[in-house]
Amino acid sequence: MADMQGAQHWNEDNSRSFLDYGRYFVPERERQIEMIADLIPAAPGGLLVELCPGEGLLSRALLERFPDSRVLALDGSERMLEQTRKTCRDHAGRLTTTAFELADRDWRRFAEPPHAIVSSLAIHHLDGRQKQILFADLAEALSLGGVLVVADIVRPPSAAGLAIAARQWDEAVRSRSLAIDGDLAAFAEFNRLGWNYFRNPDGEPIDKPSSLAEQLAWLSDAGFAAVDCIWLFAGHAIFSGRKP
Ligand SMILES: C[S@@+](CC[C@H](N)C(=O)[O-])C[C@H]1O[C@@H](n2cnc3c(N)ncnc32)[C@H](O)[C@@H]1O
Repeated sequence: MADMQGAQHWNEDNSRSFLDYGRYFVPERERQIEMIADLIPAAPGGLLVELCPGEGLLSRALLERFPDSRVLALDGSERMLEQTRKTCRDHAGRLTTTAFELADRDWRRFAEPPHAIVSSLAIHHLDGRQKQILFADLAEALSLGGVLVVADIVRPPSAAGLAIAARQWDEAVRSRSLAIDGDLAAFAEFNRLGWNYFRNPDGEPIDKPSSLAEQLAWLSDAGFAAVDCIWLFAGHAIFSGRKP
């Protein structure tokens, strides 16, 4: 997905590229943010947690949608946390940002049980076993009735599925490039960087997406109810579960 050149871990160069190109490279980005927010039941005063907010667009949308709630945004990149604070500056009193390592488990106990935990385009950096443990830990951490909403790339189990996802992602970036800038420069950069994970799924060790079916099963195994995939396009899925 990213031009990591064999890197095993996200670094500040990756943050810079993603800040520059995220608006072109994420299919239906604005709709995705809206759908993630739609999946969170209202709970005045509740704590919402975003794992790996990047630029902070989703955190800002949550702060706007839930004016009585607070957002805790956790990211491993200082650059991204700084950008999140900038993006959410109009709601600074309700935002807390903290550095963390997604794979660690020490941050998964919160002083107050969150009403929702959301994450976009980050959990695929964990391998399958780490995702399973993460889902179980988050099920434990959430308040009763709380939801986990994940937006992420998912690995199609067949060659045909990979080819369809690859083609759809190309088409999406091509359209966004034209819509935003009126030219194909950003699409050319997407190709130059080899960003389309589905064209070369084993190319970057940092990208470890699991299949959608596996992840839905892991959510159920973790005790989540109402487990479902709400949206899927270009290999990008939004799926969620509720703590009963
Ligand atoms: C592809 S960006 C996605 C940003 C944002 N959520 C979005 O959808 O636009 C991945 C984000 O995950 C963070 N990240 C990646 N691996 C991480 C790790 N192991 N621990 C903590 N943060 C990590 C990066 O710093 C970055 O903000």
